[in-house]
Amino acid sequence: MKGTDRLMKRMTVHTNRPYEVLIGNGLIRQAGEYLRELTSAQRAVIISEDHVAPLYADTVKRSLESAGFTAELFVFPHGENAKNMDTVMQIYAFLMEHNVTRSDMLVALGGGVVGDTVGFAASTYLRGVDFINIPTTFLSQIDSSVGGKTGVNTSFGKNLVGTFCQPRLVLCDIDTLSTLTDDVFADGTAEALKYGLIRDKALFALLSAGDFGGQLADVIYRCVDIKREIVEHDEFDKGERFLLNFGHTLGHAIEKQYNYETYSHGKAVGIGMYQITKAAERAGLTPKGTAEQIKAALRNCSLPDAIDMPVELVAQHCLHDKKRKGQTLNLVLLKEIGNAMIHTIDVAAFTDFLRA
Ligand SMILES: NC(=O)c1ccc[n+]([C@@H]2O[C@H](COP(=O)([O-])OP(=O)(O)OC[C@H]3O[C@@H](n4cnc5c(N)ncnc54)[C@H](O)[C@@H]3O)[C@@H](O)[C@H]2O)c1
Ligand SMILES: [Zn+2]
Repeated sequence: MKGTDRLMKRMTVHTNRPYEVLIGNGLIRQAGEYLRELTSAQRAVIISEDHVAPLYADTVKRSLESAGFTAELFVFPHGENAKNMDTVMQIYAFLMEHNVTRSDMLVALGGGVVGDTVGFAASTYLRGVDFINIPTTFLSQIDSSVGGKTGVNTSFGKNLVGTFCQPRLVLCDIDTLSTLTDDVFADGTAEALKYGLIRDKALFALLSAGDFGGQLADVIYRCVDIKREIVEHDEFDKGERFLLNFGHTLGHAIEKQYNYETYSHGKAVGIGMYQITKAAERAGLTPKGTAEQIKAALRNCSLPDAIDMPVELVAQHCLHDKKRKGQTLNLVLLKEIGNAMIHTIDVAAFTDFLRA
């Protein structure tokens, strides 16, 4: 694949079927050229949501048409509430009405909600049609667009139905991040801090100051590279991938307690990373002073570090986690900044561990 932008960064994710992640400015204007290098398909269907489509769908559509594709556009409502089977059914209907075949291509244009939903629709429509991902949030560029987890929410919980299905290509166009609200951007920052904390001390140091806007391409590259490495070792989430859950056990509990409204995912994960590290310090599992460094980083990045929620309630939510097996709970803790480990704890001891 050619690289027209000398500042563009690229890497290959070596999963079952390898694919490239391109990171740079103005990439959506070249989406058609990149797609053309992957396929001789006649048709591409852009699937997006109603915040993102008015901003970027035209540019992508024009680029696809210049590369010889007939491009259709399907738009669904934005937000986590649209990440469900109803939306998937509407996508199937659109694809069938337009006689989309297995040799055509889908283009997911939007944040993690679009990527997860379209990825799921693509992996199941006609038993699988290829898709590329154009993530437009900081979080989706560094996290959800890479790794091949697709899925939707059900009334029983989030992400309970899904597939493992890798995209053919991921285009991270940094320019699209300029239209994000500070709040949505901060959600991504929390996940970026997570990568630094579990794998890359220097990345954590860079992000801690809260002023990395000028180095966004580098930050995205380093985050994706960490996810790439972990996913390559554990494509189907049977071991190492669990490290990516640092801060998430408590984070999910907080999100759930507040009905996924008050605390966005990133904010909840930020609080989770700090609070679990405080507990781990008290238990002598993480060096003293680590939690304070996390707290300072969260503050500098406009993320909260605490919440007024009784420990018993937090523990109760964590123990109801559908992924928990038997009488133990796996936690991700820090050996030190840049180095994470999995620590198994008895369910009976968990509340005291948090309270200690
Ligand atoms: N598959 C995975 O491995 C994985 C990993 C992490 C998260 N996720 C999923 O990702 C989702 C969260 O993703 P998200 O944080 O990107 O949320 P999102 O897709 O809901 O986007 C957040 C908000 O930003 C808006 N938006 C998106 N791009 C924009 C842009 N360029 N300019 C202006 N506004 C824009 C959206 O309309 C939305 O209101 C969750 O559903 C989560 O479960 C999946
Ligand atoms: Zn997360």
